[in-house]
Amino acid sequence: MAQHKIILDTDPGIDDAMAIFTAMAHPDIELLGLTTTFGNVSVDQATQNALTLVEMAGSETPVAQGVATPMIKPLAEFPDFVHGVDGFGNLNLAPPKRTSLPQSAAEFIVDQANQNPGEIVIVAIGPLGNLAQALQLDPELPSKIKQVVIMGGVIASDGNVSPVAEANILSDPHAADKVMAAAWPLVMVGLDVTHQIMLPRSLFDRIAKENAKVGSFMQSAAKFYIDFYSSVRNIDGCYSHDVSALAYVVHPELFETVSGPTCVATEGVAMGQTIMSRYGIPYMLDYWKDRPDQSACMGVDDAGVVDFFETAMTNSYWS
Ligand code: RIB
Ligand code: CA
Repeated sequence: MAQHKIILDTDPGIDDAMAIFTAMAHPDIELLGLTTTFGNVSVDQATQNALTLVEMAGSETPVAQGVATPMIKPLAEFPDFVHGVDGFGNLNLAPPKRTSLPQSAAEFIVDQANQNPGEIVIVAIGPLGNLAQALQLDPELPSKIKQVVIMGGVIASDGNVSPVAEANILSDPHAADKVMAAAWPLVMVGLDVTHQIMLPRSLFDRIAKENAKVGSFMQSAAKFYIDFYSSVRNIDGCYSHDVSALAYVVHPELFETVSGPTCVATEGVAMGQTIMSRYGIPYMLDYWKDRPDQSACMGVDDAGVVDFFETAMTNSYWS
């Protein structure tokens, strides 16, 4: 039986597709389901994309549709300049035949947690509205979840949608703040580490050669994503944002972490900033006072994460 039972909460999204395929193919991961959210695209498009990836991979993974908008702030424009209008680099694939579950994402998360108490790792690689909704549905949820690992946030490096904010957190800061305040063990795999991990263009050429099932899709979608990153960050590759969260689940030893109570700024110029009180200082402002410690990754063996991804994308699952 696989070592890690996970639910992948996702807004596919090109780097989400990399993470979804990795979760399907990795021998130590049992993918219980995909739950979708708005973020890179609308939630309808995200759900269609998740179903497309499941069909393309020949997987039976169920998909449950989630939130369409942020909890409180207005829905922003989708970043089609990063992932394409369709979320896959404007490949405009035929729609999937498969349909999503009748349950919502939040209901799926709560049901799975009640059926597998203490065993599930929620890997959230998009905005966090589904997790906030699941907490509302079942306030005891944190005691039934083994761990939450998110791709999101930034503690001491540059943001990607503002100098201090990362996209998944800024997309729904109120939801993110509720998720940070909940009493489950949470690990942030944020820009402090994902901006250190580059997937080179040549890697996708190798995946296209060695993975007959989804390799050429991955190479074509990644081309759009890499072209964006090479234009703004002058690199001939892309960052492995979402894959890095999965890498943490299977190989936490590749990362160095810090911990402390964490708040999310929900308005103003710093909206979306993840603010961790790391040094145990009793500040005048007591926002952090009654919050549990959460963890954030600050260092990473980047080659180890790249190898984790390439190995999963070229293993025997795909033959
Ligand atoms: O900031 C990067 C994150 O935002 C990734 O999850 C990417 O897919 C987008 O959702
Ligand atoms: Ca994502």
